[in-house]
Amino acid sequence: MKVITSIKEMQSELSKQKSLGKEIGYVPTMGFLHEGHLTLLNKARQENEIVVLSIFVNPLQFGPTEDFSTYPRDFERDRALAEAERIDYLFYPSVEEMYPNDSSVKVVVQDRTDVLCGASRPGHFNGVATVITKFFNIMMPTRAYFGKKDAQQVAVIAGLIADFHFPIELIAVDIVREKDGLAKSSRNINLLPEERQQATILYKSLQIAKKAIDEGERNPLGLINMISEMITSESNGQIDYVEIFSYPQLKQLEKLEGTIIIALAVKFTKVRLIDNLIMHIE
Ligand code: PAF
Repeated sequence: MKVITSIKEMQSELSKQKSLGKEIGYVPTMGFLHEGHLTLLNKARQENEIVVLSIFVNPLQFGPTEDFSTYPRDFERDRALAEAERIDYLFYPSVEEMYPNDSSVKVVVQDRTDVLCGASRPGHFNGVATVITKFFNIMMPTRAYFGKKDAQQVAVIAGLIADFHFPIELIAVDIVREKDGLAKSSRNINLLPEERQQATILYKSLQIAKKAIDEGERNPLGLINMISEMITSESNGQIDYVEIFSYPQLKQLEKLEGTIIIALAVKFTKVRLIDNLIMHIE
């Protein structure tokens, strides 16, 4: 595995690989790798001749009061994990390398960002779309891998790929969970011990909502209230949102039908967790 910190070198390595006809799988991350990331890397390894992992905590996607400085980082641990996954290139640029000057162009996402994390984290998806546009231009991969835990991000990236005509296949990979159902996240490490226990209610409440839908419930508001009550009564977390929308359009629904997402975000003392369930209703 080659660790590369320079954009020029990354571009030149990958253009050599492309000239040899190699297919490139790309997994963008902010590091502090967990099993969710390893699942993406593993899938990329199975489907491509060359696999590139990027680790970059992107300042542009964090709001001024968010956890950019406390976002967990451990490069040596990540490097060992990447090595074990037989990654070909680990791209690890500095902030100066990615943003050498005050950018004169940034990507603005117009659709699907007035709800969920877009509503509670203004500018977040512009930051994500800007950095991913840069990474796509640097790598020009055959396939890019994203986790469905950030389902709104997957929807935004699908729009970016379509609107900017990137010849890249987007592969969305299922959420990987702890044994007790908590979605794996680099941020879970910032939960206090009692919050770690309480956080299992996020997944449990989604499962109970799914059961209600399977049994015929079609009223989004009733389900939203049910989930919110469960989270409030079983944890000290503050609900940021519990919503049900069409997916991937992220539009309000009067009645549940088609492909839907039940999405939630809950703030604990030092960390805000998200989770979701996507299902199809006939
Ligand atoms: O999902 C993430 O970790 C980040 O939003 C991403 C896609 C790496 C962009 O910084």
